[in-house]
Amino acid sequence: PRKIIIDTDPGQDDAVAILLALASPDEIDLLGITAVAGNVPLPLTQKNARIICELAGRTDVKVFAGCEAPLSRPLVTAEHVHGKTGLDGPQLPDPTMPLQEQHAVDFIIDTLRNEPAGTVTICPIGPLTNVATAMQKAPDIVNRIQEIVLMGGAYFEVGNITPAAEFNIYVDPEAADFVFKSGVPITVMPLDVTHKALTTKSRMQPFADMGNLIGKMIIEWTDFFERFDKEKYGSDGAPLHDPCTIAYLIQPDLFKGRHINVEIETKSDLTLGMTVSDWWRVTDRAPNAMFMGDVDADAFFAMMAERIGTL
Ligand code: BDR
Ligand code: CA
Repeated sequence: PRKIIIDTDPGQDDAVAILLALASPDEIDLLGITAVAGNVPLPLTQKNARIICELAGRTDVKVFAGCEAPLSRPLVTAEHVHGKTGLDGPQLPDPTMPLQEQHAVDFIIDTLRNEPAGTVTICPIGPLTNVATAMQKAPDIVNRIQEIVLMGGAYFEVGNITPAAEFNIYVDPEAADFVFKSGVPITVMPLDVTHKALTTKSRMQPFADMGNLIGKMIIEWTDFFERFDKEKYGSDGAPLHDPCTIAYLIQPDLFKGRHINVEIETKSDLTLGMTVSDWWRVTDRAPNAMFMGDVDADAFFAMMAERIGTL
């Protein structure tokens, strides 16, 4: 199995991503979960990460708290999508499993130094603050990262927090800029992919049919999460963004994309956090990211239900 660290700001879709990773031990060895401020502030994201592990009966998973604010900006949150707790929907008890004492950034650094070079993948599904901070604090780890598989950005589908930007990149554009310029192999799941991964009724039915607590939680989380898209856009479900990263590690052939140059806008107020993606290769800027554009959404949901059904 591939050794990964999930860097996250749960988030109902983050929750499904974590559950999918925990349900896939043959492909994924989850070394730890690092929480970052994003959808909601850090005290809630680290707590939510532990709630999710406990729900899966995995109190052994190490959860670390990381950065509470972006590198050089005030935090922007997304309660309008995820609710006050970040995990609104069902009521879940407070977690009893401990939060690790070590800072998430130090855990990322130590793990990359202790594991053989090129064997640890990082999966950021929130703002890139923890990952960029680790790279800045310990530049020696950069070459040791096998791959970064992240959810963020957009090309054709442009923005979900401003007309130009996707939330994870917008919240900490300086961090994103640093990561995209780092030279680490990057695979991106942008809105172009995740807006095709909609939680339609038929795709969610297998979760309803599981008849257990995890299936019920996923239905209630996605119901809550959907209200935003349904009311606002009249769409047939909500984009299940973050699990696309984990699904890629399990079954990469579900996704199609292009290896292209992606630069992050950090200056303009109008287009802050935009992922300027050279999809048509109209510049000679070197490709730095595998930017996905398409997903076999039905197969993606079927695979998730099959896996998560085993938890
Ligand atoms: C991203 O922002 C968050 O609200 C979601 O959890 C996802 O990571 C989508 O833009
Ligand atoms: Ca997220």
